[in-house]
Amino acid sequence: MFSGPGPSDGSNDNAMRFTRDLDFNARDFERVRDLIYRRAGIVMAENKREMVYSRLAKRLRLHGMNRFGDYLDRLEARAESEEWEAFTNALTTNLTAFFREAHHFPVLAEEIRRRGTGIKIWCAGASTGEEPYSLAMTVREALGPAASQVKILATDIDTEALNTARAGVYSLESVEKLGDGRCRQFFQRGSGTRAGKARVRPELAAMIDFRQLNLVTGAWSINGPFDIIFCRNVMIYFDKETQTEILRRFASQMKPDGLLFAGHSENFSFLSQAFRLRGQTVYTLASPSSRAMPDASR
Ligand SMILES: C[S@@+](CC[C@H](N)C(=O)[O-])C[C@H]1O[C@@H](n2cnc3c(N)ncnc32)[C@H](O)[C@@H]1O
Repeated sequence: MFSGPGPSDGSNDNAMRFTRDLDFNARDFERVRDLIYRRAGIVMAENKREMVYSRLAKRLRLHGMNRFGDYLDRLEARAESEEWEAFTNALTTNLTAFFREAHHFPVLAEEIRRRGTGIKIWCAGASTGEEPYSLAMTVREALGPAASQVKILATDIDTEALNTARAGVYSLESVEKLGDGRCRQFFQRGSGTRAGKARVRPELAAMIDFRQLNLVTGAWSINGPFDIIFCRNVMIYFDKETQTEILRRFASQMKPDGLLFAGHSENFSFLSQAFRLRGQTVYTLASPSSRAMPDASR
């Protein structure tokens, strides 16, 4: 059986109606907010109470528990518990799509052609894989067969999303939106029990190294410096202090002429002196010394 996509956004509490059969009070919600902030840097807005309930209720039911307080007590009592991973996976938002924010891809294609096969790309916050596979398709289209020499690092904190990404199996509906040419060149149609699905072709999958990486805590065990970093629609979940620190670390992982691609609502100009805007949500290092530059807020 193919695994399905990660949880959808589900952020509009007003649109949701739940029967609450589990005990979940205001203090439990505050505890969840505090724990996910410390674990992943994610700032859970106050209006996400119903979303938190619905996502974590599945975990409680799985453990046969009725009270969020008991679940959280157990979680906090065991720092090494595997449940931490499931807790984090449940609370991330994995909304993504192939060639999302399409205006970035012609810019990327031009950079790839200019830089050639020695290019290094990092997709940070890769979710269920649609973004890194879009990067890989763009590399293929720009470089032809030589593209197989290019490696793309794709990371995310969410292990379930990464499993979906590694499997590379998507609904035919989402793949067909890419058009006939891309569909045939980069995907294999499923049949029998896999009808209605399409799998990424092995040569495209081989270009991507999927790895778990938490942007917020601990060391980044990655192999920079990178020509290109895509980190789109990830920083929106963090506060300014966390964003500033991640930008400082991105700067140190980029080649002097590297590019950082951000999401449509992410503006880094006011957060870090290390980056300057080069195009629509595309940033470059302000100067070669930016790689070691302390950020504006420190
Ligand atoms: C909305 S998705 C964005 C996916 C893709 N970049 C795009 O724009 O379509 C946000 C992703 O950020 C990941 N994420 C959240 N906190 C993270 C952290 N601390 N470290 C790494 N990834 C994180 C989530 O797991 C999720 O897959």
